[in-house]
Amino acid sequence: MDFAVVVGHRRMVRHFTTEPVSWATVERLVRTAQHAPSAGYSQGVSFVAVTDAALRQRMAEIAGEAWYTGVGHHPFLSEAPVHLVVCTSEAAYRARYREPDKRKPGQPERVWPVPYWHTDAGCALMLVLLAAVNEGLAAAFVGVRDPARLRALLGIPGDVLPVGVVLIGHGAPDKATRSAQRGRGPLTDVLHRERW
Ligand SMILES: Cc1cc2nc3c(=O)[nH]c(=O)nc-3n(C[C@H](O)[C@H](O)[C@H](O)COP(=O)(O)O)c2cc1C
Repeated sequence: MDFAVVVGHRRMVRHFTTEPVSWATVERLVRTAQHAPSAGYSQGVSFVAVTDAALRQRMAEIAGEAWYTGVGHHPFLSEAPVHLVVCTSEAAYRARYREPDKRKPGQPERVWPVPYWHTDAGCALMLVLLAAVNEGLAAAFVGVRDPARLRALLGIPGDVLPVGVVLIGHGAPDKATRSAQRGRGPLTDVLHRERW
């Protein structure tokens, strides 16, 4: 698909059909995400792909599906045949930036004005969302309300943060959300020329 078409089609879709998504597709999505840039080439972003129905149901509960259906959404979390948990490891970045090409001997540990492990998770997430559109699929990202419960359910190590879950499947007609009605603001709101 043409890049502009993919970008133009991407939106959070909160309703899925029961059609499954193959494991080969999941692998292609994550391979695309691996093309994301990463600070210092740390590659500290990883994924847990869940297709098991019982596990997805538990994940939907943890992510607050009851709240979504309560405000009128379809039960899109448990509907989605693939739950792709986006994880990031602060430890991986700290370790990478202790390596000799990143830190001279005796130099203090780097101060992180911007936590690049989150920046990189965003870069990888965006590629997953675009790759899903390119495959003719639909996707939505939801935040993790209770990282500890999600970690326990999926065996995610304590030093790895589950940032959120990309729900992936075949899209079904969705309900218009208040957020969607907001539309994108004018370019002048986001583009400052030469100085703020
Ligand atoms: C970091 C981040 C967190 C988000 N968290 C949620 C969420 O928890 N639940 C949800 O339904 N949508 C969530 N969204 C989706 C946004 O609501 C959505 O991207 C925004 O309304 C713009 O709509 P669009 O992506 O369809 O263009 C999140 C998006 C981002 C980037």
